[in-house]
Amino acid sequence: MTDLRTRLRAVPTLTGTPPPFDPVRTPETPHPLFVDWLLDAVDRQVPEACAATLSTVRADGRPNARVLILKDVTDDGWQFASSASSRKGEELAASPYAALTFYWIPLGRQVRVLGRVEPADPEDSARDFLARPMPARAETLAGRQSAVLDDPADIGAVVAEQTERLTTEPGLIAPNWTLYTLQAEEVEFWQADPDRRHLRLRYRLDAPNWSKERLWP
Ligand SMILES: Cc1cc2nc3c(=O)[nH]c(=O)nc-3n(C[C@H](O)[C@H](O)[C@H](O)COP(=O)(O)O)c2cc1C
Repeated sequence: MTDLRTRLRAVPTLTGTPPPFDPVRTPETPHPLFVDWLLDAVDRQVPEACAATLSTVRADGRPNARVLILKDVTDDGWQFASSASSRKGEELAASPYAALTFYWIPLGRQVRVLGRVEPADPEDSARDFLARPMPARAETLAGRQSAVLDDPADIGAVVAEQTERLTTEPGLIAPNWTLYTLQAEEVEFWQADPDRRHLRLRYRLDAPNWSKERLWP
């Protein structure tokens, strides 16, 4: 049998077709360039273009990461939402710094966004919660994300109970549901090159100004 190392070496990577990108003709701040790249990915039907890896720091200083959905990008930053009582929520409360990493395979593009994370005010978090589909709201109302599941049958029972509550009270808000904003301090745009001269453009915030620099691949 072929060993794993050999099989992995045979898996193609960087298979995308990068669109034209001139790092010299880029905006002064990273936000509009990010939105351009994101919308390129959406328009070209990159699967789940708004999924990103959110990396946080645990209490013992070690990293943790998981995938979630980008909700919006505003002048304030990159927004995502989750339960404040989840593991990531607890990590962000203790150490409010994170990284978001996007990889749009068909475009050969990666973006890394680093910065401080702030919870939104309860009204904005509630608005985000109410825009979610019923099953997602019922699940969140159960309020158990990242807790240990002793009996898988509990999920059905608890979600059915919360769905019932939502049917009679559709305006219910899960108190822990939180919209977070990652206020970028550093954003790196990376685009693959067939000759391995990958393009890297890093923005860094020295408030209130952003600087830009190219990086070696
Ligand atoms: C494509 C995708 C999208 C997801 N979107 C979210 C999301 O928007 N919010 C969220 O809390 N979890 C989302 N999850 C689940 C998380 O990856 C994770 O399992 C969950 O938030 C618990 O993480 P934690 O234990 O680190 O808090 C998503 C997972 C995937 C694969």
